[in-house]
Amino acid sequence: MKVRKAGLKDIERMNKLLYQVAGVHSKGRPDLFREGKKKYSTAQLEKILADPMRPVFAAVDDEDVMWGYAFCVFQQHNGDGLLTDIKTLYIDDLCVDESCRGKHIGSLIYEEVKKFAKENGCYNLTLNVWECNPSAMAFYKAMGLVPYKTGMETIL
Ligand SMILES: CC(C)(COP(=O)(O)OP(=O)(O)OC[C@H]1O[C@@H](n2cnc3c(N)ncnc32)[C@H](O)[C@@H]1OP(=O)(O)O)[C@@H](O)C(=O)NCCC(=O)NCCS
Repeated sequence: MKVRKAGLKDIERMNKLLYQVAGVHSKGRPDLFREGKKKYSTAQLEKILADPMRPVFAAVDDEDVMWGYAFCVFQQHNGDGLLTDIKTLYIDDLCVDESCRGKHIGSLIYEEVKKFAKENGCYNLTLNVWECNPSAMAFYKAMGLVPYKTGMETIL
């Protein structure tokens, strides 16, 4: 397994994994996430893949078939009155095919993303994780990530 930049040829596999990650969320929070939906349409994926500010990484096998991905977004608030100019790489979505989780593909992708962020002058790497997804939480903790802000709610 190796990690490369994702391309248009990966869209079919991406769609499959997008349904899987959305399924984790709709199972955990059916009040927030619609069942059987996914985050991006194929047209949106084509746009993302063409955008240098939104690099996408793919873990691929010897046949170049994708088994995991990380969608990333460069973020920076240059000249903001409050926020500093630091550059962040935000991990917008990370998923490994359910047939091969627990085999260190997620960590391989994460380490490549981290290397890429460092090489591109980023100060930090950030992401959001839902409380209803304890295995992802355990994975991120194992990768050395720590909470930096907390989303709060009360159901009325
Ligand atoms: C979260 C995810 C990307 C992790 O990828 P993975 O390839 O399965 O994880 P790895 O095998 O690289 O795990 C690395 C370490 O993370 C921890 N970890 C991973 N999955 C875990 C789990 N289910 N429970 C507890 N710890 C876990 C372990 O410490 C593991 O190291 P070890 O196997 O040596 O003990 C993958 O499980 C996934 O795609 N989940 C569904 C989609 C999702 O929830 N994405 C995140 C959205 S925020």
